[in-house]
Amino acid sequence: MSLSYEELVSLKDEFQKKHLFSPEIGIVLGSGLDSIVDQIEIEEIIPYQEIPGMPVSTNKMHKGQFVLGTLDGVKVMVMQGRLHLYEGYEAKEVVTPHILMKLLGVKGVVLTNACGAVNLSYHPGEFMLIEDHICFEVESPLKGPNMDKLTTRFPDMSDIYSKEITNCIEKEAKKESIPVHKGVFMQFVGPQFETKAEIKMARTLGADAVGMSTAIEALMLSAMGVKTVALSVLTNMACGILEEKLSDEDVIRISKQSKEPFEKLLRIALKELKQHC
Ligand code: HPA
Repeated sequence: MSLSYEELVSLKDEFQKKHLFSPEIGIVLGSGLDSIVDQIEIEEIIPYQEIPGMPVSTNKMHKGQFVLGTLDGVKVMVMQGRLHLYEGYEAKEVVTPHILMKLLGVKGVVLTNACGAVNLSYHPGEFMLIEDHICFEVESPLKGPNMDKLTTRFPDMSDIYSKEITNCIEKEAKKESIPVHKGVFMQFVGPQFETKAEIKMARTLGADAVGMSTAIEALMLSAMGVKTVALSVLTNMACGILEEKLSDEDVIRISKQSKEPFEKLLRIALKELKQHC
């Protein structure tokens, strides 16, 4: 069940009573991409189930906890594990932690994910900064009565992924010799991987990569005025491009293999977001 604005505010109030921490930047870690947590000076780890009213992650590959601490001098609130529509949650429930971050004062968020490459010039193990998305097949977290104190009824979506900050991250990544694409991401609900025909459709529509998260989170953050950037690890070519079948084990394996450059990119993204917020 999704929460009303008043319930979200009392969730935030309860959180603040128990945890004295004022986060500046939020980080959402995708499948197999949580090694950065070892680099954080951790103040506290809070499993989602310890927060009354918070939906709980059911995905065995996602830890489902907030990590509060400092990374490169920035106070970060990290979601080690996100919630997905395919777990049975409504879009509004999926973004409950993002709303909590906003209410706690977070000014910018780095979203990360593992995704399948649709663009034929991309390769597994490479990275993509999301510059725009397609998610018309997916329920909007803004559906239903508008939470006037958080968003306008019809928010503009022309700069969901901050163009300015994304360009800065791209520039800094180049300096570090980390190749990174910039492209359009398309969210599907899952949990099944897409069909060959769906991937063909995604490419025809202009998508460069596909995944089962992120776009609705970004649109909610953008609607709330939170500066957002998103970093994808391309863990596989999407369905039908290569002969082999897709598996979640391969997704996790490639995510983990990308650890070093991914951590570097994430730190660049954090620095740039902090500078622009
Ligand atoms: N499709 C959807 N989600 C994904 C994929 C994919 O090919 N790879 C990793 N997450």
